[in-house]
Amino acid sequence: MNWTLAARAAKMNPSVIREILKVTERPGIISFAGGLPSPLTFPVAEFQAACARVLTSDGAGALQYAASEGYGPLREQVAAQLPWKVSPSQVLITTGSQQGLDLVAKVMIDPGSRVLVETPTYLGALQAFSPMEPDVVGVESDDEGVSAEDLARRAGEGAGRARFAYLLPNFQNPTGRTMSEARRAAVVEAAARVGLPLLEDNPYGELWFDAPPPPPLTARHPEGSLYLGSFSKVLAPGLRLGFLVAPPALYPKLLQAKQAADLHTPGFNQRMVAEVMKDGFLDRHVPTIRALYKSQRDAMLAALSREMAGLDVTWNVPVGGMFLWARLPQGVDSAQLLLEAVERNVAFVPGAAFYAQGADPRTIRLSFVTSTVAQIDTGIAELARTLREHVSRRT
Ligand SMILES: Cc1ncc(COP(=O)(O)O)c(C=O)c1O
Repeated sequence: MNWTLAARAAKMNPSVIREILKVTERPGIISFAGGLPSPLTFPVAEFQAACARVLTSDGAGALQYAASEGYGPLREQVAAQLPWKVSPSQVLITTGSQQGLDLVAKVMIDPGSRVLVETPTYLGALQAFSPMEPDVVGVESDDEGVSAEDLARRAGEGAGRARFAYLLPNFQNPTGRTMSEARRAAVVEAAARVGLPLLEDNPYGELWFDAPPPPPLTARHPEGSLYLGSFSKVLAPGLRLGFLVAPPALYPKLLQAKQAADLHTPGFNQRMVAEVMKDGFLDRHVPTIRALYKSQRDAMLAALSREMAGLDVTWNVPVGGMFLWARLPQGVDSAQLLLEAVERNVAFVPGAAFYAQGADPRTIRLSFVTSTVAQIDTGIAELARTLREHVSRRT
């Protein structure tokens, strides 16, 4: 059969990361490549108990079709836990925050529309946007995220004005970086001044190590922002539960897009999460995730300092989340190094995949949350050995 595909299908590409993950799922490999939360943090017993309660109290309701907006009590819980005034009527429960990215892309992007992103940015967002054929423009960014001046400069004007800027202020994927209070204020001021809508994505915000991050961008500018949240990193990603908070003017269109996509997010999962959360469970549970991830970050920082000594490698110190960002010595291509590292049973993600333009081939993303401290020690030592050999072969 000769299938004729829509032109947009050509814009759908396999995630480079998912392809890499296939290799790294080989037994025996120490993988810093994944973007998965630690399975040690999944509250299995609580879900088991909640499942029984949901089915006993209203099993038929939980198994029936339901409202596209989401399960009322869950929308209320979401609205109540956000640090600015949100009505539950502004909350759309999505099938993961990834679906929020897809819905916003469908509603806001025409072919050729300008969309601003951080440098680098979350690959899954680039994947969600690209079938809508935007002109994705990377904004200059440093250790605190986007430059407010460059954001305003690249916002465009009139019909060419960017449809939105996609920003990740907390423990960003891929770099782990966080926007300071001053940067947030400057970004919001610049966006409001030039009339640039913001799409804020915050799946990692609760995973801080020593102090909570400054309030979200949306809290400062709710009428000009869309906000995405997720239960994937604080409860479990397999639930596929996230949420979108939209200003009243935009909500109906996003809801129509949601209806067309999948009618509604699984009602059973929504009720289970509402049930698990109802007695302040997250206030007890999330601190245990923070403590675990902090100890793993510390182990990775210590291993890097120990093993990379004398090699011209730099890295940041993320203050929350799951990822650390490193830069390899001049002239090293991290995609090439990965092939050699996998031979030694250690894997990471080459940073180039995360750039809209002007990729830096020396960068790598390291996840510190799915390996034990012993694996982190061994894996970073192997990585350093691989790099030393790679560099010495080139000189
Ligand atoms: C920045 C960012 N946004 C969105 C997502 C999607 O998360 P989910 O669909 O599981 O809520 C991820 C997943 O890793 C992410 O890192």
